[in-house]
Amino acid sequence: MRKNIIAGNWKMNKTASQASEFLHELSSRMGSKDEVVIFPPYLSVAAAVEALKGTKVRVGVQNMHFEDSGAFTGEVSADMILESGCEYVLIGHSERRKYFAETDETVNLKTKKALQKGLIPMVCVGEDLDEREKDLTFDVIGRQLEIGLSGIAPASVVIAYEPVWAIGTGRTATDEQAQEVCAFIRKTIAKMGFAADEISILYGGSVKGSNISSLMAMPDIDGALVGGAALTEDFINIINY
Ligand code: PGA
Repeated sequence: MRKNIIAGNWKMNKTASQASEFLHELSSRMGSKDEVVIFPPYLSVAAAVEALKGTKVRVGVQNMHFEDSGAFTGEVSADMILESGCEYVLIGHSERRKYFAETDETVNLKTKKALQKGLIPMVCVGEDLDEREKDLTFDVIGRQLEIGLSGIAPASVVIAYEPVWAIGTGRTATDEQAQEVCAFIRKTIAKMGFAADEISILYGGSVKGSNISSLMAMPDIDGALVGGAALTEDFINIINY
């Protein structure tokens, strides 16, 4: 179901005790008309779930393996994630693609597994600066969607558009740039057989309390995936845009 979602990707930040302290302090102010999701590191998930008990804030993880179990040292399965109290999983974040060899093919396998197990996959796509400057944005995102979501329609997924050049750089895409690509994503997945009007599409990349409102006013932007600002009190401003 298409709804507004504000998500915080903590990346490799906040130990369990730091997660607990931060969320105990802020959870009472995290009430929102929109769905709010926090993605802590694996080892801080239990503390986050505990701190958010009784609130409507959801918890997710930043990655998962596509196999059910087995000899995959260092990996985590969908069942483990579900049992820990998570409802969401981030798939194909650009840092996973860049530093950990995530491909469109593994994104596809992971998205299928997440859906099969009842987790909500938040699939990340986005072009890098070189690709944007060469006018390849739509080619790159079209490919990421066509391979990453192949064989999945009409299931319900969440998509996050995160231009790599806007992540952690302070350089947010303009509202129009973000809208243009989110509209392209909606059109592309409609052609792939998804009920595109029912799918939430988020923008991510240097979202802050000061720029969230105008992004949210764009017709094809249904939320934000927030990195750096989700680690601070500014996350409350973002939730309450
Ligand atoms: P940022 O990160 O908000 O720090 O740019 C966004 C993300 O990587 O999800």
